[in-house]
Amino acid sequence: MRFDIFTLFPEVCAPYVQESILKRAQAAGLVDVRLHNIRDYAPGKHQVTDDEPYGGGGGMVMKPEPVFNAVETVLGSGAGDAPEASKAPTPIILLTPQGRTFNQEIAYELARHERIALVCGRYEGFDERIREHLATDELSIGDYVLTGGELAALIVVDAVARLLPGVLGDPTGAEDDSFAMGLLEYPHYTRPAEYRGWRVPDILVSGDHGKVARWRRQQALLRTRRRRPDLLERAPLSKDDRKLLGD
Ligand code: ADE
Repeated sequence: MRFDIFTLFPEVCAPYVQESILKRAQAAGLVDVRLHNIRDYAPGKHQVTDDEPYGGGGGMVMKPEPVFNAVETVLGSGAGDAPEASKAPTPIILLTPQGRTFNQEIAYELARHERIALVCGRYEGFDERIREHLATDELSIGDYVLTGGELAALIVVDAVARLLPGVLGDPTGAEDDSFAMGLLEYPHYTRPAEYRGWRVPDILVSGDHGKVARWRRQQALLRTRRRRPDLLERAPLSKDDRKLLGD
């Protein structure tokens, strides 16, 4: 799967995508992350990418030309709603605090695409015409304001890439994740069996796989009820789950 990140600060994004799992996934040809500097597509000697807002007020606004140029050059002129071309199927996603809140469901949805484009804002935001005529979607990573969309774009790349077949070493790696089944994950333990007097729950070293699976399910249910009752309300629960919760 290919990710095209459009940013004024590609050097902020590069280190993260060049390490660890994303590094391996790219070396294995499973993921291709390309960074594009929006400034390279700004016309004129000074390659200006921002300007004052019409109507006054503080802050600077990202100009439409460099962003349209960058995205259309890289994705082809079908990007956005350029009238002469049919809409490109590649999602063009703005990262802003005004988008729909990114979550695991959206990560799964995006993982079905061959390619996605992520456009990072800076300054006060984008000229509205970018939102109206180029972007196909807008995502926020939470109700707080960052200095730019780069961290948000990296979060989207990371969450989506790890869902792709082969990216995680363990082929079932993403299946038990928190949120994958609508619940938070059960607690994990590893060696030593006792650390500073704190023992691993006996059931995990019992060798009884059925009991372990049941214990884990119960822990996930109880933890979700305690920490995220909103998730538990929406989770599809069986009769057995109700019993494990003591309902
Ligand atoms: N840019 C600034 N704040 C952001 C947020 N919360 N999510 C995505 N992009 C952003």
